[in-house]
Amino acid sequence: MATNKTFYLETFGCQMNAHDSEKVIGTLRQEGYRQVETEEDAGLILYNTCSIRDKAEQKVFNRLNDYKKLHKQGKRFGVLGCVAQQEGEKIFERAPYVSLVSGSASYRKLPEMLTRLEAGESRITGLDDRQTDETFETEFTARQNPYRGYITIIEGCDKFCSYCVVPYTRGKERSRSSSSVLDEARRIADLGYTEIQLLGQNVNSYRDPEGKSSFAELLAVVGEVPGIRRVRFTTSHPRDFTRDIVEAIDRVPTLCDHVHLPIQSGSARVLKRMAREYTPEWYLERIAWIKAARRPISLSTDIIVGFPGETEDDFIQTMDLLAEVEYDCVFAFKYSARPNTPSLVMIDTVPEEEKGKRLQVLLERQREIQRANYSKQIVEILEVMIEGANAQRGQIAGRSTQNKPVNINWTQPIAPAPGSYLRVRITGAYPNSLIGEMF
Ligand code: 5AD
Ligand code: SF4
Repeated sequence: MATNKTFYLETFGCQMNAHDSEKVIGTLRQEGYRQVETEEDAGLILYNTCSIRDKAEQKVFNRLNDYKKLHKQGKRFGVLGCVAQQEGEKIFERAPYVSLVSGSASYRKLPEMLTRLEAGESRITGLDDRQTDETFETEFTARQNPYRGYITIIEGCDKFCSYCVVPYTRGKERSRSSSSVLDEARRIADLGYTEIQLLGQNVNSYRDPEGKSSFAELLAVVGEVPGIRRVRFTTSHPRDFTRDIVEAIDRVPTLCDHVHLPIQSGSARVLKRMAREYTPEWYLERIAWIKAARRPISLSTDIIVGFPGETEDDFIQTMDLLAEVEYDCVFAFKYSARPNTPSLVMIDTVPEEEKGKRLQVLLERQREIQRANYSKQIVEILEVMIEGANAQRGQIAGRSTQNKPVNINWTQPIAPAPGSYLRVRITGAYPNSLIGEMF
């Protein structure tokens, strides 16, 4: 058997994928596998893939191409995650040296799939369709971040936005029971974690199968777990964003001052074609709730430019919305046509060059908005959780409760440990980060 029980795993895509990888690593270790740092050192080479945009999808095929020569040395390849679920057995045709193809809804079966792999099988698939009720809960999660613990509370997506692959790659929406979420939160607090990030494709669409807690109630109880100092959640869908979430943030000190609320477009016409099921006015009402909170809640969003049929006027409406909301962070993407999605049949009217231009105009404008937002924080005193150090610049790096990166000038011999908290006076600002010193 060629796998010699070592594996290499590279992860692409979102935090859900990063967290799935933590569970996959834990499961493999439980099966007697040891993780190694390079493809060359591994018997089994795994890629946990993303298919949200074409560029993301291409990455795995480039990687497979770069390393396929290792197959001759008896190494085995596995493709996991969203590209695996989307492309299925077609991956074996495109990359015949791949032996294992599994989507995230089948990871529970990994031990069994590994046994078959070890027995020499070369066409192993785990491709549950979207009917699955399973969530991937495991006691073996090998958390890679020593201070921020991810907890998945809901998997899959039932929203079917017209551009999006997620409902096809991750299946229908299914929530974990609030008691199992709370047990995990307590467990990782006992291990010394002080920050919890609750994850879901639409985290606020959470529906407790035990009927005990709404999403806002779950946020609050997780925030009250002894030892937990920060709770974040991502990603929220505007459609399910209720006022009690803002009230919970106001009431429970550990809930972070940050909401990520993807708008996608500022044009009602485009939102309708995207099947987002809200209008800009409806979205802005939620933003007004957040801005009216007692705490200064930072806002971030996702935007797609160049959706099929997006006119110059539609784009201007998106720009106007940015100016109105004044986000602290924007993730903007050029529209990418994806397999299976309803928008695939819409004529992609916006030329690639125009998409690029709109993206650039938007990012430049947003940079100025952030420059103004961030500079307003000079002289404020913030609590910063330390994440690492930049020895060359003599700085340590961390994040504020609003999720803003803060770099702290550091002259003392011993830097504070990652995961510790410091009070910091802000002395400078850039469009994407703050500068500070120990207070
Ligand atoms: N093309 C471009 N961007 C997309 N996103 C999702 N699907 C696509 C697509 N087909 C973006 C959305 C989403 C983020 C995670 O990725 O903005 O919120
Ligand atoms: Fe990419 Fe979406 Fe899959 Fe996350 S869920 S890895 S963003 S396709």
